[in-house]
Amino acid sequence: MAYKTLEVTTEGAVCTIKLNRPKALNALCAELTQELSEALTKLDKDDKIGCVILTGSDKAFAAGADIKEMQSWEYLDIYKNDLFAKYAESVARFRKPIIAAVAGYALGGGCEIAMMCDFIIAADNAKFGQPEINLGVMPGIGGTQRLARAVGKSKAMDLCLTGRMMDAEEAERSGLVSRIVPLDELMETAMDAAKKIAGQSQPIAMMTKETIDASFEMSLTQGIQFERRLFQSMFTTNDQKEGMAAFVEKRAAHFKNK
Ligand code: CAA
Repeated sequence: MAYKTLEVTTEGAVCTIKLNRPKALNALCAELTQELSEALTKLDKDDKIGCVILTGSDKAFAAGADIKEMQSWEYLDIYKNDLFAKYAESVARFRKPIIAAVAGYALGGGCEIAMMCDFIIAADNAKFGQPEINLGVMPGIGGTQRLARAVGKSKAMDLCLTGRMMDAEEAERSGLVSRIVPLDELMETAMDAAKKIAGQSQPIAMMTKETIDASFEMSLTQGIQFERRLFQSMFTTNDQKEGMAAFVEKRAAHFKNK
């Protein structure tokens, strides 16, 4: 399907979604978030896809929610429509592994969408921030919550209250991004990681993701219990038999996602 605000390409079991509103630095207008939600819903149901890469341009992953679109909105309208609840959170609801490959600006809603991904690979020119306070608002797609969990209270407060940006080095130091690579190696690095993930057992990768995500919602005791139960359940799968047999037989595993 053709999208107006996205470029979607598939290579083997990896799908790359490129945010594509270059003139607006990929600002997240309603059409873009709706299309992103539709694309992810399809990919979640597509058994052939094992991992997704979400990316933008060299200059901007996304410079935030679309300020020009938001400027005239009124409270009761956005309250009744429950703004951002339906489409903007679709990345967080996606059940398969999804990597953010971030170059340039990831600001406001752009930073929030990147944080909804499972991990962030940053180009050396990446800049992250929650500058909403400069506009007389605050983050509205989970930024206060996910940033505080990712980088701790002090840096989250610093970024959200001053509106300053942090560069890739600071983002990696503070745990927001998993690795930094030169800009011209960003997509190749993300693709290598995505192919590796897509080559694993899909249900096991999904359960691993679900279990790590659960750690943000549960007590340690509940989280460990949840992990233990899912770990035990993996012994019902053919992929567990295949993975362990392959190790013992000193050969590559061929997972069938069963
Ligand atoms: N919404 C709408 N349009 C945007 C935009 C945004 N968030 N960010 C950039 N653009 C547009 C600009 O208006 C400009 O369009 P025109 O050429 O038509 O004027 C175009 O993209 C290029 O932008 P700049 O000329 O500003 O480019 P720059 O290189 O000088 O600056 C920037 C880049 C520092 C990222 C700057 O564009 C900027 O500060 N953008 C806004 C960042 C921001 O405040 N994001 C938070 C949005 S609110 C939000 O996200 C709320 C939430 O949590 C849900």
